[in-house]
Amino acid sequence: MFKVNENYLKLPGSYLFSTIAKKVNAYSQANPDKKVIRLGIGDVTQPLVPAVIRAMHDAVDEMGDAATFRGYAPDLGYGFLREEIAKKDYQERGCPVEADEIFVSDGAKSDCGNIQEIFAPDSRIAVCDPVYPVYVDSNVMAGRTGDYDEARGTWSRVIYMPCTAGNHFVPELPGERPDLIYLCVPNNPTGTTLNRDQLKVWVDYANETGAVILYDGAYEAYIAEEDVPHSIFEIEGARTCAIEFRSFSKNAGFTGVRLGFTVIPKDLKSGDVSVHSLWARRHGTKFNGAPYIVQKAAMAVYSQEGRVQLKDQVAYYMNNAQIIYKGLKEGGYQVYGGVNAPYIWLKVPDHMTSWDFFDWLLEHANVVGTPGSGFGPSGEGYFRLTAFGTYENTMEAMERIRRLNG
Ligand SMILES: Cc1ncc(COP(=O)(O)O)c(C=O)c1O
Repeated sequence: MFKVNENYLKLPGSYLFSTIAKKVNAYSQANPDKKVIRLGIGDVTQPLVPAVIRAMHDAVDEMGDAATFRGYAPDLGYGFLREEIAKKDYQERGCPVEADEIFVSDGAKSDCGNIQEIFAPDSRIAVCDPVYPVYVDSNVMAGRTGDYDEARGTWSRVIYMPCTAGNHFVPELPGERPDLIYLCVPNNPTGTTLNRDQLKVWVDYANETGAVILYDGAYEAYIAEEDVPHSIFEIEGARTCAIEFRSFSKNAGFTGVRLGFTVIPKDLKSGDVSVHSLWARRHGTKFNGAPYIVQKAAMAVYSQEGRVQLKDQVAYYMNNAQIIYKGLKEGGYQVYGGVNAPYIWLKVPDHMTSWDFFDWLLEHANVVGTPGSGFGPSGEGYFRLTAFGTYENTMEAMERIRRLNG
């Protein structure tokens, strides 16, 4: 009889967002007259900008002509896009990253989920708590995380770095030594960031201890403050200890189009072995390249016209973020994030859990958010709202919340 990968059976309960969907569906069925506003999932609502649409149309036309048709894309990405990313996202910011250190993919989720497989099975991982659940779950599947403690919501071999209001959401260096350190900046779900000095502490620590930082910059486009780095490669020493993941989902609305990339500097080595060459091997074996049409669309993201249009789109979402932030503050909540990220993280009233607050808000304001405990044990007592809704829905949601408190 065949056997399955039993590590999958260790994954706890049903996935956060499916639990939310079930609760919302049940509520909507019982209350068909109520208009529910969803500020839960981090999906975008605004359409692709005109520059991107035009680039996609042009690429589709090329695919319809034998002279310009393209089959399989190069598995590491087309040279034109890798060059553009290296120049515009890195070299223009003073980051020493070359085009051949960029691996184009179908999105950051795949890359941050898959990266763990090029590291030793017994690697110890460290994660911020709360954080994007993919980092822990992908290591559970690989059998790296030990046993699950249901009462505490923790894995025995995972090093948790709590990020709460108590430490201003800045992770402290861990007591135990990790091999792989996941950092997500700006953070999903807290919407908080690290400044250059704070990130330098981590780069120095990783270089001193021989750890790798797996740096997820999916929300880079939302950074507004000067002292928040846009890439870990702005920090001296990062080339020998860091891998960076980026996405076109949140800066350009590609959540349904799918495109991202990973940067692995050639200086990142374990002994004589280059991590870059392992990932190139992995990518070449298991990935057949991102679509030409989508990579051409990404070129438009870097064009003059595309940049202007996308700046406006990010500003649209960040205006929502401000509306939520201010509205909650005025309602007497403690509120975090929302300045360099499209997420607002609020402290729920003392007598409630994150899920109690979810139920209460759904019932009384018909607004859906995400319970903080879904992102890790230190997320308990907090709640996430996203700025990715429409302006109209955001305004209405805040009006309803204001009425509740008034
Ligand atoms: C921190 C973080 N990383 C990665 C992703 C996924 O990005 P992509 O759409 O490129 O797979 C998300 C999506 O919500 C995210 O929040």
